Amino acid sequence: MHVRGNTILITGGGSGIGRGLAVALHARGNQVIITGRDLQKLAAEKRANPGIVSRRLDVDDPAAIATFASSIVDEFPALNVVINSAGILPAENVLSGDTKIAEAVILTNLLGPIRLINALLPHFSRLSSSAILLISSGLGFVPLAFVPTYSATKAAIHSYSQSLSGNSCVTLPFKSSNLFLPTRKQKSSAKSRRLILMQCRSLITYLKR
Ligand SMILES: NC(=O)c1ccc[n+]([C@@H]2O[C@H](COP(=O)([O-])OP(=O)(O)OC[C@H]3O[C@@H](n4cnc5c(N)ncnc54)[C@H](OP(=O)(O)O)[C@@H]3O)[C@@H](O)[C@H]2O)c1
Repeated sequence: MHVRGNTILITGGGSGIGRGLAVALHARGNQVIITGRDLQKLAAEKRANPGIVSRRLDVDDPAAIATFASSIVDEFPALNVVINSAGILPAENVLSGDTKIAEAVILTNLLGPIRLINALLPHFSRLSSSAILLISSGLGFVPLAFVPTYSATKAAIHSYSQSLSGNSCVTLPFKSSNLFLPTRKQKSSAKSRRLILMQCRSLITYLKR
């Protein structure tokens, strides 16, 4: 993958790994579009990184994904990379008898990326160079008992990215298990933000190979 001169859409680009990649890729001369649901968070990133564009997209909403995909391609015909970083990790009690959390996790972590990728693939398939990045997790390979559905969605995302590769799409499955992973509380500190950014830069160096 060329790491300069792309037009890159990043879901969940207002925080964490998505934000780190947005900042690092923007600094390397890419047009970066970040999305999420929290407009204030997105606006703050836009202010801190002039040139980054933000749009609202709730990946839980299939109709919004379809409308968004068509309008973003109209607005940015050069769009050639999508990084699916939006995700949730709620604790789950399998003994509760309630599948609400499990369904929400599947909707955001699995159906969201699948729907967005499917909506963008007709456009990507017309380009000479494009890339789809999905973020799996070590938990997809070694599941954690209190986040069973999260772990399952990450295993599924890994499998899905392999199928896409087999369909002659240019895909770069990315396991984030080799990243330093701060807790939610640590993430707000400037030091953690710098560390995430540093690791996103290393990831970009890796993608260049
Ligand atoms: N950090 C880790 O320890 C770790 C480890 C392995 C894998 N990962 C994966 O890496 C990705 C990013 O994780 P992170 O830790 O950077 O998470 P994060 O800081 O919590 O960011 C997640 C982002 O997803 C967005 N999001 C959540 N639900 C959404 C929805 N329905 N529609 C649109 N955006 C939504 C949130 O933005 P809004 O609130 O604005 O919607 C948020 O900016 C996730 O897929 C996660 O599973 C993380």
